[in-house]
Amino acid sequence: MTEKNSIPKKIILFGPPGSGKGTLTELIKKILPEIFHISTGDILRENLSRNTPLGLNAKVYMDKGELVPDEIVINMVKERLEREDVKDNGYILDGFPRNIEQARALTEITRADIFIHMVIDKDIVIKRILGRYSCPHCGKIYNKYSLNPKYEGICDDCGSEIEFKQRSDDKEETILNRMDVFEQNAKPILEYYSTMGILRKSDATRTLELTREEIEGLIDL
Ligand code: AP5
Repeated sequence: MTEKNSIPKKIILFGPPGSGKGTLTELIKKILPEIFHISTGDILRENLSRNTPLGLNAKVYMDKGELVPDEIVINMVKERLEREDVKDNGYILDGFPRNIEQARALTEITRADIFIHMVIDKDIVIKRILGRYSCPHCGKIYNKYSLNPKYEGICDDCGSEIEFKQRSDDKEETILNRMDVFEQNAKPILEYYSTMGILRKSDATRTLELTREEIEGLIDL
């Protein structure tokens, strides 16, 4: 249990593709630098970039916008959550759990303090994802409509001038499938965390600044 007024350090950000989970985690980490960002999508992409068996196996699913099998993803997350430094400093889970089986498996490993549901319309997220690009060096996320680097072609965070890139699964057809997969799985997850008493909602349609303020309020920063 979290003590009253203490900062919850075990946070789940849950929302459809493009709702801003990765971007908001970057902002929260500026205030809580010690907290661990565990993004299942980032871990899978990192494995893919190194051509590991895990990455190559996951690619088949990711390219179609399908969920990577639970046994792969759950073990991957479990291994990270059981590290001593994660236990000491807490975590933000971004992209996990994605179905009720993953939610139940997570509870066996750790009890989150807060589950934030980022609520947003499909049309807005599709536009956001199509406009997304990132720095291949440090991973900072940008958007051609709402968040470009201060100096064109230079990453704000790491100063790299490497060409920015788009994700290979950010194509309209794959995005629509990712949205469907999200919608098919969301209801039981939301009921599960509501029953647990830790479900909170955030309106993710607003500007990044307003959403950030709301989420910081929810996690008592
Ligand atoms: P994953 O990488 O987790 O992708 P996702 O859930 O589809 O989410 P995104 O990363 O697309 O969006 P986001 O919410 O982080 O938004 P962002 O901050 O970038 O998963 C990819 C694939 O991996 C899955 O399809 C699946 O195959 C596999 N996978 C991953 N986890 C799995 C699991 N647990 N089980 C099984 N398979 C799994 O923001 C989007 C854009 O919008 C950015 O450009 C940003 O700058 C902009 N933006 C953000 N907020 C705002 C705002 N308020 N106003 C304006 N622009 C904004």
